[in-house]
Formats: sequence, structure tokens, C-alpha cells
Amino acid sequence: NRMELNILIICYLIGSITFIIGLKMLSHPESARKGNLIAAAGMAISILGTIFLYEEEGIKLGNYIWIFAALIIGTVLGTIAAKKVKMTAMPEMVSLFNGMGGACAALISIVEFDHLNHQIQLGGPVNSGTLLIIFAGLIIGTISFAGSMVAWAKLNGRIKDFAFNGQHIMNLVIFAVIICLSAYLIISGDPATGSLFYLVFVLSIIYGLFFVLPIGGADMPVVISLLNSFTGVAAAFGGFLYDNPVMLTGGILVGSAGTILTILMCKAMNRPLSNVLIGSFGGSSSGSVTKDQGAYKEISISDSAIVMSYAKKVMIVPGYGLAVAQAQHVCHELEKLLSDKGVEVNYAIHPVAGRMPGHMNVLLAEADVDYARLLEMEHANEEFPQTDVVLVLGANDVVNPAAKTDPGSPIYGMPVLDVELSKLVIINKRSMNPGYAGIENELFFQPKSSMLFGDAKSVLQKLVAEIKTL
Ligand code: TAP
Repeated sequence: NRMELNILIICYLIGSITFIIGLKMLSHPESARKGNLIAAAGMAISILGTIFLYEEEGIKLGNYIWIFAALIIGTVLGTIAAKKVKMTAMPEMVSLFNGMGGACAALISIVEFDHLNHQIQLGGPVNSGTLLIIFAGLIIGTISFAGSMVAWAKLNGRIKDFAFNGQHIMNLVIFAVIICLSAYLIISGDPATGSLFYLVFVLSIIYGLFFVLPIGGADMPVVISLLNSFTGVAAAFGGFLYDNPVMLTGGILVGSAGTILTILMCKAMNRPLSNVLIGSFGGSSSGSVTKDQGAYKEISISDSAIVMSYAKKVMIVPGYGLAVAQAQHVCHELEKLLSDKGVEVNYAIHPVAGRMPGHMNVLLAEADVDYARLLEMEHANEEFPQTDVVLVLGANDVVNPAAKTDPGSPIYGMPVLDVELSKLVIINKRSMNPGYAGIENELFFQPKSSMLFGDAKSVLQKLVAEIKTL
């Protein structure tokens, strides 16, 4: 009835508004958690509103047992997965969930195509606008699904990078066939050609697989963000199809946020998106030659403790290794100890440190580090010349001077932290092994640098114990 439909419209309005507010709140660590909950509440209101209030020609959705069984299974699986996931495995989970979103969008298109085809067979009109939306949702959703599955499997090491000569050309051909076939089907609107729809579906799966397979491991987060924006766009097409404002808003927000994030990540690595997509960067060793770098020095725990305790300014550079070691809490303890001794301690945050956007911010927030101490790259680079000691904790590529000096390096041009401008650099990692890009780091061999080998957590624990005795 009219009243219920009006309430439903209000539910959708609430949903759309909470998505926008939630997204806005996600941009600051302090409000992010709440923002996420607000958007989730809006989503719940929209879903429940649709289930109980939506009707077409006076008929409600029904199927309540099916719907709620699916909702409950999904909620339980999602909650368990989100609670159990390790911070370092977050990109994997995002990829998996994103793939499910793409699959949903594709399923909607398949169901609606069947529906429409059936009506056409009964002599109904061919609505090419609707067909266009159905095909767009199918193609983009399917590519996002297949691509995300590959990204997920790559990130957890189930499959390796895979490329062959002419792969990019094959991809282009497949994509061209998908577009031509879809255009033909949309224009002809002939129900007899319905089975070709499934050919488009299969080709989209193949395209999604071969699109992501050759992309290098270090570039996976960028690809995931791009696929995420695809899923958003596919969902927005679903919104058009059902005339559903909340799907449309949600889809557009995800689509644009994913696009912006993709661009920001590419900027932070100083590489155009095209290079990420066809460059096979950071894959299984890009053949970098190991130059003879000379010798490196080591520094002991007690010497490190002394130089840091008597320094005026210390800058901590966190990286992927700090997250792996889960050493954020003891890192915060070290920072507090030094601050109590009158040392000014800050953190230099590189935009692509770790393995996902904002990885270091989230990691340090978990340990209650004061946000005011987190310096963005530009600001940190201004501070290094006045810094006495830089403590690099499990970071490597983001402090690699080759990005500035070696035009042959795969990371050449990526903005990096200028740690070598400080008086002394202490680098903690477990070995001389390279970081994600698979390349040597000459910083380790420079006169100002000293290696402090060991797992970040145990090294920090020893440092804290040592400083307490000083
Ligand atoms: P990496 O260059 O990957 O270096 C991390 C270092 O941590 C390794 O060299 C490793 O050396 C050390 N390490 C590992 N486990 C450790 C432990 N338990 N204790 C101490 N050290 C440990 O990290 P980064 O400097 O943070 O750079 C991130 C890389 O990921 C960049 O290449 C970036 O482009 C790429 N990437 C990031 C993103 C985002 S959005 N963050 C997106 C795409 C690509 P040992 O093995 O010797 O210990």
C-alpha cells in the first residue's frame, strides 16, 4: 500500500545518507569505526525495508525462509571471517568480499536477462535500454568476480603470476569480442540469440582471469582497488535496473571511492595505471642485478638504546615487517619511554608502506599511538635533516634511495622517505633480504646506516628493556 511504499522510500533515503556520512567518517582513524557502523546500520534498514515493504502489483517479496537463511549464513560467515582475519591478510579478504559483490551484480543480470527474454518470447517489447544495463552489469560484475578471485588466490600464495607472449593482445581481442557480441544482442533483441548471452558471460570470466593473472604481486593492492571500483559500477547498474536509489548511491560511492584510491596509490608509487596493469612489476624477481654493494655495519641493542636515549629527535619509520611481527604495541612502548626521557619521537608514514592503503595508520592506531605523531611523507622529509636517529622498523622499499638515484630501478621515480638526511639510521629487519619489489637497498651500505638484525618484536622488547636500565 501507499503508506508502506512511502516508508520504504524513507528507508532508502536513510540508507543513502548514512552511506555518505559513513564514507566521510572513514577518512579519519578516530571516526572510522563509527562511520562503518553508521553505514552498516543504513544498509540494514534498506535491506529490511526492501524485504518487508517492497511490493510489485500488490505482491510482497515473500520467500522469507530463503532470504533469512541466506542472510543468517552470510552474516555468520562474514562476522567470523572479519573477526579472525589478520591485519596483514586484509587485502585478501577485501578481494574475496569484493569478488562476491561482483558475482551478485552478475547474478542479478543473469536473472533479469532470463526474465526479460521470457517476456520478449511472449511478445513483450524489446527494451534495449534495459538490455544495455543488463549487459553492462553482467560484464563488469563478472570481470570483477573472476579478477578478484585471482587476486585473492595470488595474495595467499595459491597461484603465481602467469603471463605468456601476446597475452595483452589476446585480452584485447577477447574484450573486443565481448563488446561486439553484446552490442549485436542489444540491438537485435532477438530472443533466439539468448544463448549468446551466456557466451558473453563465459568470455567475461576468461577476460577477468587473464586480466589479473600477469599483474605483479606488489601491484595487487592497486588492482584490488580497481576491481573494487568495478564492483561499485556493476552494483550501480543494478540500481538502474531496479530503480533502486540506495543501490545506485552505494554503487556510485564504491565506484568513485575505488577509482580515487586507485589513482592515489598510482600517484604514491609514481607509476601510471597503464604501467601497473601491463608492467608486471614486483613479480617473481624482475631480474634486478645484484651489485656488489660493499660491506654493511651492525649495531648492538645497547648501543642503539644509548644513541636513541640521548638523542633530541628520533623518527620511527614503520613498514611491512612491523605489521608482520605484530610489534606495534611494544613500538608504542618504546616511543613512550623515549618521550619520558625528553626525546621528541615521531613516525614517518609513507603512503604505500605495508601492503594496503593506510596500513601503518591502522596498525599504529591499534596500539593507541597519538595521531599527531604520525607525519605524512612530505612533512617527515622536511624533518629528517634535523633528526638525530631514524629507526627503520621492517621497512625497505619505502626508504630505498634507488628510487631517486637509479633510473634503471623498477621503483625509480617513486617518492621515498629521505632517511639518509638524518644523522644516524638504524635499520631493523631479519636479514639482508629484499622487500616487496625484490630489489637491493643501498641505504643499508651507506656510512650513516647500521643494521640491527632480528624480528621487530623481539628487538623492540630488548630495546625497551635496555633503555629502562639506562
Ligand atoms: P617492504 O619493502 O616489503 O619491506 C619489508 C621488510 O620487512 C622486508 O625487507 C623484510 O626484511 C622485513 N621484515 C619482514 N618480516 C619482519 C619481521 N618479523 N621483523 C622485522 N623485519 C621484517 O615493505 P615497505 O617498506 O613497507 O614497502 C611496501 C612495499 O609494498 C612497497 O614496495 C610498496 O610499493 C608495496 N605496495 C604497497 C601498497 C600499499 S597500498 N601499502 C600497495 C601496493 C604495493 P627481512 O626479510 O630481512 O626481515
